[in-house]
Amino acid sequence: MNAWLEDTRTSYDTVADSYAEYVRDSLAGRPHLRAALVSFADRVRAAGGGPVADVGCGPGLITAHLHGLGVDAFGIDLSPGMVARARRDHPGLRFEVGSMTDLDLPAGSVGGLLAWWSLIHVPDDEVPTALAHFHRVLRPGGPVQVGFHVGDASRLKTEGYGGHPMKLHVHRRTPERVAAWLRAAGFALDAQLLIDPDADVPGAVLCAHKP
Ligand SMILES: C[S@@+](CC[C@H](N)C(=O)[O-])C[C@H]1O[C@@H](n2cnc3c(N)ncnc32)[C@H](O)[C@@H]1O
Repeated sequence: MNAWLEDTRTSYDTVADSYAEYVRDSLAGRPHLRAALVSFADRVRAAGGGPVADVGCGPGLITAHLHGLGVDAFGIDLSPGMVARARRDHPGLRFEVGSMTDLDLPAGSVGGLLAWWSLIHVPDDEVPTALAHFHRVLRPGGPVQVGFHVGDASRLKTEGYGGHPMKLHVHRRTPERVAAWLRAAGFALDAQLLIDPDADVPGAVLCAHKP
């Protein structure tokens, strides 16, 4: 495994429980993010339904929310600690360890794929590999939704979620750049949501589909 993947995995293993507490109520005050999930669920249904992969699912909050919206969602995460926490918090749902850079799913096997704030840890030169996997595993018509920090800088994060040691890079990207990567991977862009545009670090959600 690449050093950056190992560092990312170890970092999230270390903070799995504190991260889970940190995000536990995060959707409650975020109506725009909840709306993005509603529109994603609608797109999944319109495309014929089927299993939906939440890639980089962390403790499974978004996976469970999608399930509550009637989506047959399952989670995949690099960190075994995160997957253990997700299984504990959501015993009725399926969570597996895996990396988006080597997605262990059959071609055309998912009806939708969501990756919220997980591609942020993948270096630029590996992003096309991850997006090629997203494209491969999606059925034609299936939606993809990617959430990320907006900006154009990368930083090394050395602690987080209560002062726990971490060692991983966080890459901020412009929506234009992520859209270009998605197009290059074969996706058609549908919508772009800019969240907290006046904040120091806005968020963005890009919605696309596999034609
Ligand atoms: C900031 S958390 C976001 C978690 C969740 N998507 C959410 O929105 O609450 C980033 C997650 O991405 C996972 N991750 C990072 N790199 C990954 C990779 N290459 N493949 C799969 N998961 C990855 C981490 O382990 C971590 O759980």
